[in-house]
Amino acid sequence: MALSMAGTMSKTILVTGAAGFIGSHVVQALAARGDRVVGLDNLNDYYDPERKRANIREVRHALRRHDRDASVTFLEGDIRHRRTVSDLFAAHAFDAIVHLAAMAGVRFSIEQPHLYHDVNVTGTLNMLEAAVGRDGSHAPRSPLPVFVFASTSSVYGGTTCQPFQEQAPCARPLAPYAASKQAGELLGHVYHHLHGLAFTALRLFTVYGPRGRPDMMAWKVLDNMFFDREVPLYHAGQLRRDWTFVDDIVRGVVGAVDRPLGYEVVNLGRGVPVSLAEFITVLEDCVGRKARLAAAPMPEADMASTHADISKARALLGYHPRIDLSEGINRFWTWYKKTMLDV
Ligand SMILES: NC(=O)c1ccc[n+]([C@@H]2O[C@H](COP(=O)([O-])OP(=O)(O)OC[C@H]3O[C@@H](n4cnc5c(N)ncnc54)[C@H](O)[C@@H]3O)[C@@H](O)[C@H]2O)c1
Repeated sequence: MALSMAGTMSKTILVTGAAGFIGSHVVQALAARGDRVVGLDNLNDYYDPERKRANIREVRHALRRHDRDASVTFLEGDIRHRRTVSDLFAAHAFDAIVHLAAMAGVRFSIEQPHLYHDVNVTGTLNMLEAAVGRDGSHAPRSPLPVFVFASTSSVYGGTTCQPFQEQAPCARPLAPYAASKQAGELLGHVYHHLHGLAFTALRLFTVYGPRGRPDMMAWKVLDNMFFDREVPLYHAGQLRRDWTFVDDIVRGVVGAVDRPLGYEVVNLGRGVPVSLAEFITVLEDCVGRKARLAAAPMPEADMASTHADISKARALLGYHPRIDLSEGINRFWTWYKKTMLDV
């Protein structure tokens, strides 16, 4: 580790999924505070790869203003390829790994379960093997890097007890995606147990904000509303989500990078579930248009309601979500107008 501009120790950090929604924000935050960041992404076409390239451009543009552009390297590569991963670990001594690369859509996982298994389970295994130096690319580093894994509220699946607490049994996943993320958490425990890897699984709750994923509800509602298409009102609008603004999530991720905890699973949400109907109303107020609502049944792989208990994140990570829904939606709308509508 070297001294950063801020006088703190600067780290070398690998961020996988770096061109994606959350990854691009994490890369930006780490580089802005003085860390050296290697970003890996295969720029797949689950949604338009041009959006991912645009995310990278936005990150570079923002960092250039603070003269931090040079501390980020973006690489195109696939975590399923062991050689790619090994080469990366042979070339850099990482202090931390933020493993966000994944197939992330719940519904698409029903169509492509093998793909989800390959990327989310085997890909994560490749990262863990390399992190502890078992892939033959390098001698194990001492200390081992901190491993932060993006898990999901979806692992709570059929858990009925709300708010969701980390110790609740999570043996009832509703989609291949949820099962694959749970497998990642379990593999993390194995590498902690056998090799002493510090592994923190962050269960993220419905993240929204600038550079959001076009397949997610927040983006789709805004997009449909703006272009006067029907907005599906699932479950009569009573589907509830613990919407969490991306900047809050990033603060939680950075907190986990800075605090090796042994093995921990930690919820990152806002702790305030909001119904889809209410979410749409806040968007309507912000955009100044009415949505054309169309009743739609509850999608079979979706949970009816998510609600994070965030007391563990507060205690272990110093996590305090700051952005409420109307502020977050305002920021999302401002970005969407500027970036997608060019106004
Ligand atoms: N957005 C949310 O609300 C949310 C909620 C819970 C968990 N998560 C998790 O957070 C992480 C980031 O999600 P996101 O919303 O930013 O999704 P995203 O799809 O925007 O980002 C994931 C990135 O990973 C990359 N990727 C996929 N397969 C890869 C591979 N084989 N090799 C290298 N790169 C690959 C993709 O190209 C993409 O850029 C994911 O692990 C996701 O499961 C997200």
